[in-house]
Amino acid sequence: MCGIIGYTGKEQAAPKLICGLKRLEYRGYDSAGIATFHRDDFSVFKRKGRVSELKGGETLQGNCGIGHTRWATHGAPSERNAHPHAFGRFVLVHNGIIENYLPLRKECEGRGEVFASETDSEVIAHLLEYYDSGDVLAALKKTAARLTGSFALAVMCRDEPNVLYAARRKSPLIVGRGKDGSYIASDVPAIAECEELYTLRDGEFAVLDGDNIRFYGEEGEIKKETMKLVSKADVPEKGEYAHFMLKEMHEIPAAIANSLLDFEENSCFSAINIVLCQTEYIEIVACGTAYHSGIAAKHAIEALARVPVEVTVASEYRYRDPIVPKGTLVLAVSQSGETADTLAAAELAKSKGATVIAVTNVPDSSITQLAHFVLFTRAGREVAVAATKSFNAQLALLYSLAVALARAKGKRADPELLRPLPALSEQVLAETEQMKEVAPLLLDSRSVYFIGRGADYCAALEGSLKLKEISYLPSEGYPAGELKHGTLALVDEGTPVVAVLTQHALAEKTMNAVSEVSARGGKVLLVTNLPEYCSHRSVFRSFLLPPCEELFSPILSVIPLQALAYYTSLARGNDPDKPRNLAKSVTVE
Ligand code: G6P
Repeated sequence: MCGIIGYTGKEQAAPKLICGLKRLEYRGYDSAGIATFHRDDFSVFKRKGRVSELKGGETLQGNCGIGHTRWATHGAPSERNAHPHAFGRFVLVHNGIIENYLPLRKECEGRGEVFASETDSEVIAHLLEYYDSGDVLAALKKTAARLTGSFALAVMCRDEPNVLYAARRKSPLIVGRGKDGSYIASDVPAIAECEELYTLRDGEFAVLDGDNIRFYGEEGEIKKETMKLVSKADVPEKGEYAHFMLKEMHEIPAAIANSLLDFEENSCFSAINIVLCQTEYIEIVACGTAYHSGIAAKHAIEALARVPVEVTVASEYRYRDPIVPKGTLVLAVSQSGETADTLAAAELAKSKGATVIAVTNVPDSSITQLAHFVLFTRAGREVAVAATKSFNAQLALLYSLAVALARAKGKRADPELLRPLPALSEQVLAETEQMKEVAPLLLDSRSVYFIGRGADYCAALEGSLKLKEISYLPSEGYPAGELKHGTLALVDEGTPVVAVLTQHALAEKTMNAVSEVSARGGKVLLVTNLPEYCSHRSVFRSFLLPPCEELFSPILSVIPLQALAYYTSLARGNDPDKPRNLAKSVTVE
C-alpha cells in the first residue's frame, strides 16, 4: 500500500506529483508529501491527511521530484511520519515494509545518526548515505541487499539534481516516458499520459535522467519491453455519480457480461482445459472480498463438477505448510493482482507442485507473472476501496470456470444458465434506491448481523464486510443455522438482521432463524427471490430479487447489500470511497 510517484523533466515537478498522487490515493490516504530539488537543495512539503492537504506544496520549485500518499504501517499517521524521508544527501519515498528495520536502525544509531520519524522507511535513507561513495546505483544495490521485506522506492540524491533512482521488490512500480520527461509510479493511472510504460520486476532498478531511462538487473544494464499503450480513458472519473462506489455498482452488469468466459474464444482455453481434466482438488486462496467470491465458487464448483474445493484466507495458507496432493489446482483470486498475502500463497502452492491459475482484474499485475495461467475479470478499473463490481465479475468468471470444469469432468452443465445474469443484475440495480430507506434503521444500532445458508452465506459475508468497511458499524456475517449457537445472545429489541434467502430447499430452515430473531425483537430485512416469504410476519422489510439459477444467486443478492452499505455510509456522514484505515491494494503483510 501507499502510492509513490516521481518525475524528472522539463516542467515543474510539484503540480505533476500532486496530480499523480490524487490518482494513487486509493492506495492510502492518511498523510501525503512531496519533495523537489531546487537551487542545490531539497524542498519538502508534507501534511497529515489526504492529498488535497498538499495544495500549498504546488508552488515548490524544481524539475525533479518525488511524492507519496501513505497508509501507515510503522508509526502513527502524522506529518512527522509522512514521506518523503531525508537523510544526508538522500531523500526518498517508499511503499512496502522493511521487516528488519529495527536492527538496521540500531546499527545506524550506533554510528550516531539521529532519526526524524518512527517509520521503517527512514532507515533506507540512512543506509544510502552510509553506502554512497559517489555511485548512487551501487549504494542503492548495497542498501537493497540489506533489506528484508518489500519495497518500491523512488530516491533522489543531492549530488545529482535531475536524476531519479528506483528499485523494486514485491511492491509494484511502473516507469514511464512522456512528452515532457520521465516518471515513476506505483500504478498506471498516475502516469497514464505517458507514451511508453515499463513494469519494473523484482530485483530490478531504474535510473531516470530527463528523457533518458536505463534499467538494471543484478548483473548490469538490461533492456525492457514496453507495456501496451494506455489510453487516457484509463484514468477513472466519477462522471455524473457522487462517488466511485456508486458508479462502480452501476457498472456491475457490464462487468458481469465482460467476465463471463467464452471458452470457445479464449485462446488459452485448450491449455486450461487439460489442467481442468487433470484437476482432482481445488484450493482457492484470496483475501477480503476475493475470499468471499472463493466461497461462492466453492458452492458452484462442488455442485456442478463434484470436485472438492477448499477456500483459505491467503495469509493463513502461506504459513500453514499446506498439503498439496497430486492434481491440485490453486485459484489465486485477487482484484489488484498485488495483494502480498495472495501472491505469497500462490508462490508457495506453485513451489509445492500445484498448478496455479490467477483470477485478476489487472493485466500485468504481479500475480500474472507467477501464475501458470491467468484468467482476467473485465470489470474495468475499480477505484472505491470497497470492492463492488470486481466481486460480481469474479463470480461471473468463477461460475463460468465451474461450468467448464464440470464439462471437462463429463458432467452436465449448461453455460446458457449464465447468460441472463447481466440483464438480471440490471434489474436488481434499478431497485437498489430502496436501500436509502433502510439505511436509517441501521444508524444507531450497536451491531448488525447478516445471515444465510449455503450460497446465501457467501452473500451474507460480503454484505457484512461492505457495511463494516464503509459505515464503521460492527457487523458480522453468519451461517443462519449457527446463529442459535451464540450470536443470537446479541439480538435484542431493534437489532437489525439482514437475512439472504435464495435457496429454495433451505428456505424453511433460514426462515426458522428469521423467526428466532424476530421473536427476540430483532428487525429482519429479507433479501430473497422467493416472493412468498416477503410478507412473512417475522419479516420487517424485504427486497425482492428476480428469479435466477439458485447456484449463481450471490451475484445478484449481494447488490442490494452493497447499496445498503453505501447509503448507510452516506447517512453516517462518511466518505464511502475512502474508508478510514483501509486501502484498496494491500501490498504489505
Ligand atoms: C483490501 C481491499 C479489499 C480487497 C482485499 C483483497 O483489503 O480493501 O476490497 O477485497 O484487499 O484485494 P485483492 O486485490 O487481492 O482482491
